[in-house]
Formats: sequence, C-alpha cells, structure tokens
Amino acid sequence: MVKTFILGESKQQVLEMLSEKSIHKIHLDQKVIALVRSNETFLAFQSECPHRGASLFQGRLTETNEIVCPMHEYRFDLKTGKLKVGSCGDLETYPTELTENGLKISIFPT
Ligand code: FES
Repeated sequence: MVKTFILGESKQQVLEMLSEKSIHKIHLDQKVIALVRSNETFLAFQSECPHRGASLFQGRLTETNEIVCPMHEYRFDLKTGKLKVGSCGDLETYPTELTENGLKISIFPT
C-alpha cells in the first residue's frame, strides 16, 4: 500500500527549506530516503546504492540530474531511477508533488 507524507506546510516553506544542488536526508517513519531539488521539481530516491549498498548521500550530483555513487562510480538517472553506467538494478524512486500545502512524497513501505 502506498504511503503519502507531506513535508512542510506551504510551497514557499518547502522551497526555503530545501536548497538546490544538495542531497537531503529525509526520514519518513522508519525509512530514510534521499531528496534532491531541481528548480521546483523534487527527485526522491533510495539512499543506498542498488549495487553494493553504499550511501548515496556521499554521491555526486551531475548537471543532468544523475547521481554518481561514491564507491564504484555507477551512475543513475534521478528522474527515472534508470542505471546509466555500471551493471546492477535500477535505483528506486518515489513520486513527489509540490503543492500549496507542502511537498507530497509517496513511498511503498517494504
Ligand atoms: S556500491 Fe554503488 S556503485 Fe558499487
């Protein structure tokens, strides 16, 4: 079952709270996910690399919204989660929506 969370209380607050070009750590119940802002779009994704589980909080963001894992430099598209360089499964991503009442993030609890 999908679980939806709302961060912040307004669009303005979310934009002030979450800077661009950073990988934010977000706690949603028991789960910790990563969140990146690109203008007014938010990209939410699993924080462990699907290859060997390295922390993607230490990863590097590219201009084209990809993340490069710090361990073996595999690369993932943050919009789709698709693996771009390397050989492992895709990154899990979570739908987000910026609304007047905050940022909605939907996850599938494991
Ligand atoms: S653990 Fe991320 S590329 Fe190997």
